[in-house]
Amino acid sequence: VHDALVDGFGRTHTYLRISLTERCNLRCLYCMPEEGVPLTPSEKLLTASEIDRLVDLFVSLGVHKVRLTGGEPTVRKDFDDIARRIGKRPQIRSFGITTNGIALRRRLPELAASGVNKLNISLDTLIPERFERITRRPGLHKVLESIHAALSMPEFSPVKVNAVVMRGTNEDEICSFVRLLEKQPRLEIRFIEYMPFDGNKWNEPKFFPYEEMKALIEREFGLPLRRAFTPDPAKPGALWEHQTAKTYTLDGFSGRMGFISSMSENFCGGCTRLRLTADGNLKVCLFGKAEVSLRDAMRGGASDDDLVSLISASVKRKHFALGGSKDRHELALQPNRPMISIGG
Ligand code: GTP
Ligand code: 5AD
Ligand code: SF4
Repeated sequence: VHDALVDGFGRTHTYLRISLTERCNLRCLYCMPEEGVPLTPSEKLLTASEIDRLVDLFVSLGVHKVRLTGGEPTVRKDFDDIARRIGKRPQIRSFGITTNGIALRRRLPELAASGVNKLNISLDTLIPERFERITRRPGLHKVLESIHAALSMPEFSPVKVNAVVMRGTNEDEICSFVRLLEKQPRLEIRFIEYMPFDGNKWNEPKFFPYEEMKALIEREFGLPLRRAFTPDPAKPGALWEHQTAKTYTLDGFSGRMGFISSMSENFCGGCTRLRLTADGNLKVCLFGKAEVSLRDAMRGGASDDDLVSLISASVKRKHFALGGSKDRHELALQPNRPMISIGG
């Protein structure tokens, strides 16, 4: 076993998130500025075969969980081809995609055939006008159709719906989301704390912490939330505290809910994640600017060994938490990319 993906704190990285594109068919206000972001010219994006080479390399170093992100991954023209090639690798036990669900419904059979078994769909509101305000585009009914279609396919289990909660924007819908869980055992709703990224105008008043979300649900339903164990194939036996989402159930509801408390109670201690940006940088943490270009190395003729050295050096420099910031206030001032070009 190679230790290239073990960082200075003994964390073994087995989960690779690959951003396929910086483009998106929505314009969510927590993800990008109104005017959009300058797009990387297409010749500077990783090609399908470069992605393939890197996936092989990371798998040989111990990665066994892959997730495709964007922008919106499905808008990339060779998406099906890339997904099919990744899904063929037996070492990859968990293969996910995070999508906004707009153009998902008709692609679901192909996704399942490619081996995708983890589907996370972003949806922050159930009100059409509000959807248009948050995403700056219409399309709520398309996302809902995609979610319902996905719930009818046993290949995807559970289907996770990601809602970013922002004070003054959608915190009044938390309980409406919980009600969706009543008769849907395969659905998991994840309430995500709003995080700061370049150009997304994060501020403390808009921040809505996990403890407050939880209290609000318990008050509304008059019942305590019960902790649920989430088996994570990337970390057998992992403690709940070390997973992205703290998961709970509520009596009378068959689905479960998760809370992603990156800002109020980070889970960095158990981090297993590395990221590949669409323009070919290895990003060792969601936060901070620490990146290294694997694209330039590959195009400059790097051997696999050269790439492993580059990757290993970068992983060894990874900060313990929050990209080196001490808390969310410092984090909000730290330069980073806009979320659209990271992929979450
Ligand atoms: P699973 O494979 O289901 O565990 O998905 P995930 O939670 O890793 O991924 P998803 O793309 O659905 O992301 C959900 C939320 O978690 C988004 O807001 C991401 O930005 C956030 N997230 C994902 N990975 C990390 C991470 O390493 N650190 C932090 N702080 N947030 C993360
Ligand atoms: N804070 C928290 N989550 C975010 N996402 C996008 N931007 C933010 C943000 N600023 C979520 C999306 C998607 C996932 C990849 O990241 O809703 O579900
Ligand atoms: Fe890992 Fe960085 Fe996310 Fe913390 S913020 S869990 S260190 S990627």
